[in-house]
Amino acid sequence: MSDTRANKRFRSQEWFDNPNNPGMTALYIERYLNQEFTREELQGGKPIIGIAQTGSDLSPCNKIHVFLKDRVKAGIRDAGGIPMEFPVHPIQETGKRPTAALDRNLAYLGLVEVLHGYPIDGVVLTTGCDKTTPAMLMGAATADLPAIVLSGGPMLDGWWNGELVGSGTVVWESRRLLSEGKIDYEEFMSRVCASAPSLGHCNTMGTASTMNAMAEALGMSLTGCSAIPAPFRERMAMAYATGKRAVEIVLEDLKPSDILTREAFENAIMVNSAIGGSTNAPPHLQAIARHAGVELDVRDWQTVGYDVPLLANIQPAGKYLGEAFYRAGGVPAIMGELAAAGRLHEGAQTISGRTVGEAVADWRTRDPDVIRPYHRPLRENAGFLVLSGNLFDSALMKTSVISDDFRRRFLSKPGSENVFEARAVVFEGPEDYHARINDPSLGIDEETILFIRGVGCVGYPGSAEVVNMQPPDALIKAGINHLPTVGDGRQSGTSESPSILNASPESVVGGGLAYLKTGDRVRLDLNECTLNALVPEEEWEARKAAWAPPKLHHQTPWQEIYRTHVGQLADGGCLELATAYRQVAKDLPRDNH
Ligand code: FES
Ligand code: MG
Repeated sequence: MSDTRANKRFRSQEWFDNPNNPGMTALYIERYLNQEFTREELQGGKPIIGIAQTGSDLSPCNKIHVFLKDRVKAGIRDAGGIPMEFPVHPIQETGKRPTAALDRNLAYLGLVEVLHGYPIDGVVLTTGCDKTTPAMLMGAATADLPAIVLSGGPMLDGWWNGELVGSGTVVWESRRLLSEGKIDYEEFMSRVCASAPSLGHCNTMGTASTMNAMAEALGMSLTGCSAIPAPFRERMAMAYATGKRAVEIVLEDLKPSDILTREAFENAIMVNSAIGGSTNAPPHLQAIARHAGVELDVRDWQTVGYDVPLLANIQPAGKYLGEAFYRAGGVPAIMGELAAAGRLHEGAQTISGRTVGEAVADWRTRDPDVIRPYHRPLRENAGFLVLSGNLFDSALMKTSVISDDFRRRFLSKPGSENVFEARAVVFEGPEDYHARINDPSLGIDEETILFIRGVGCVGYPGSAEVVNMQPPDALIKAGINHLPTVGDGRQSGTSESPSILNASPESVVGGGLAYLKTGDRVRLDLNECTLNALVPEEEWEARKAAWAPPKLHHQTPWQEIYRTHVGQLADGGCLELATAYRQVAKDLPRDNH
């Protein structure tokens, strides 16, 4: 037993080994003995490591953790700790209605309460599906207990008729083929189902792969953790190593507040640009930063990240999937390329005990077609633009997915490069969009921008991934696959649509989108990063004065609590009152009897 351990009194001993309070110690310990533990273990001066289990039958993207946890426990035991697994409220992106986003803050709250109220000294955060990663990191930031991320890893690559088919991305492509009448329902189903060939999360660079990459870029997982496909043996080895390291960080007292610094968040933003990451990363990182007490503004995504080049040739911005990304070196190769080009804060601390610079020093791309060298990128300036104007204070645009065709049609008018003036067509949520998009009387053509509102955090509730609206069937048949789209909701990280989204403040709380009408002229200017309704000031003010907030229908108690306390996407969509809480694991709760 090391000195560190001999001298250390663990938080869990306040429950299980407190000679000053034998009555409570007995009460706390007896029930934990009726399962796998003995008094010798629980009173032997060993740290207790929680395993926050996000996998279940309801959460298939994370179900690999149900199997990985055995290797995590072995690692914890071999390093001299005691593992205790506990369940996390399920968050499944494609299964949860009305949105999984609604549940991110609920899982966060649940994790904070567990880490505060139970005899836990450190925690392994199991992550995978989109919102599981931010929920776990937000909770760890609020608790500030030693914590380490274990990603579940992506599914194996999907194949259909000899071609790669990636999670989500295949859905958007196949919907267009269905609209054009090129495939039937059965082929549509087969193509989409072929994209999910094994356990694991989405195999594209959607929100799941992005957020696990963000956890690694922040320094919260072991180097190389995020990209290992779920079924690979290396994933099992990573689970074991993560369990071992979880014990060491308790002994070293290495906490999220030591890792989650401003520099760490800037590193994550730069990595996000280089991987062509999801537009969901900004609200999730904003939320983690706010719970960690780090200043981060939505505009930092442009100032820090815009001029970083796209290196990862992975769908939806590129062509490959998770297996190729892993073989090419994954996130360490991306970070190694960025570091060599002077584009990372190399001094930032990681959970491995090494700095970022030390952790990725020897890493470069192992396949320059899949991960490009820094000076031979897929495209320059691959980060997000942050737009503003009279329709919102801020909204994001992902530039790495702007296709040549989109640029030529909408952004390359002679004499007005990057400027597009058009007529607005406004939808009140996805039901309205689906009901009316093919209505010829709307007059949707190439000079149209599609708007959707009422789909933000308060409006939906939870903010829905619906902004990547497909054009009318007639336009798709004429070869126009995308129109510019704008909304106060989000879109899937697997979408290749360069939408303008996450508009904050949202319409139902009185954001500018609320006053837009179908037929208004709007002007998008990517040189100035503005989007404005070209409505005379007086008329605009009159619409504002006449506006009344819509009546919201809550379907569950949580929806009402969430809507009462949630902030806007630009601020992370946090429960605002929760952002004031810091280091809650330190503030020991009272005895319960
Ligand atoms: Fe769960 Fe994509 S739907 S990871
Ligand atoms: Mg999604």
